Amino acid sequence: MIVEGLTFDDVFIIPKYSDIEHRADVSTKSKILPNVELASPFISANMDTVTEYRMAISMMISGGLGILHRYLSIEDMLKQIELYQAEIKEHKYEEKVPFVVSIGANDFDRVSKAYEAGIRNFCIDVAHGHHLLVEKCIKKLRELYSDIGIIAGNTCTYQGAYDLFKWGADTIKVGVGPGSVCTTRIKTGAGYPQLSAIQLAYKAKLDYLKDFPNEEKFIIADGGIKYYGDITKALAAGGDAVMMGSIFAGCKQTPGNVFRNENEDMVKSYRGMASIPAQSDFGIEDFNEEGISLTVKYRGNVKHILERLLKGLRSGMSYSGARTIKSLQEVSEFVRVTQSGHFEGQPHKAFKH
Ligand code: XMP
Repeated sequence: MIVEGLTFDDVFIIPKYSDIEHRADVSTKSKILPNVELASPFISANMDTVTEYRMAISMMISGGLGILHRYLSIEDMLKQIELYQAEIKEHKYEEKVPFVVSIGANDFDRVSKAYEAGIRNFCIDVAHGHHLLVEKCIKKLRELYSDIGIIAGNTCTYQGAYDLFKWGADTIKVGVGPGSVCTTRIKTGAGYPQLSAIQLAYKAKLDYLKDFPNEEKFIIADGGIKYYGDITKALAAGGDAVMMGSIFAGCKQTPGNVFRNENEDMVKSYRGMASIPAQSDFGIEDFNEEGISLTVKYRGNVKHILERLLKGLRSGMSYSGARTIKSLQEVSEFVRVTQSGHFEGQPHKAFKH
């Protein structure tokens, strides 16, 4: 059987009648867990070159969220939690957005230590999340703790999304192979074009909520954002928030130092978690390389990037006449574009004669 899947560059959002007089009239608030509502639906990726506590604090201050990666010893994870909490206390930030911590599918010790330290939201981070081990993990966490939020993934199919919701995940993370440093699709042949994957997850969410109307479920679209407009497309397709790595990787707040490359540009490292350097740094010997490692230009304070992302999103929503993300999801329609349609949208051209 062959089905067709599309991704961000294959479509545009069809503009709709709008009565929004100013971008500021648009609300970008979005719930992504039962007890977590973001002012802006932007999440920094749970990768070791993207999110530790400094990044999570800055994301939180700007209305988004940073999810701590899981490639830390339990001791170092606890240190990160302590630093996050100390910063919150010192600056008296109202902790509207709690720290979310990633775990593997068998990390119960890690969960219990984080729970003791006050963490109540976890992200089960597995490359192929539609998996027996993830099912067991979610069910066991639900048995052990009655008051935690669970994000689980990644998945890219209707059935994967529906099952993760049914097993007890509040939120699913969607995306297999769209990321800028991912080689999963090349190395394994597996994956699904990201825009269609988000639409399938959204359909699964709506169907699930028809079956279980008293529950709340959420979707994080993870990876593959190359342009600001892709964010609006990901939300229009059904995402409640968008997770990004490469856009944020060069920021001041990400882990790692700024250094100069051979051209004297200021850069930082960015690497897939399944790349050889990442896996060997974490002492993992038996793995399939499914990511690459590179450098990205240093981009300064993340708050400036977030301001631009927010402006782009507000403007994008106003083209659909959508005052909320929910309404963007409900009203959006896409037009499929040809190569020439895509090319026409690129800033390439003075009139040729
Ligand atoms: P972007 O496009 O924002 O994507 O840089 C970030 C997302 O990429 C995923 N990720 C990986 N996927 N191999 C993969 O196939 C890897 O080594 C890898 N590391 C990260 C992850 O979902 C992240 O949020």
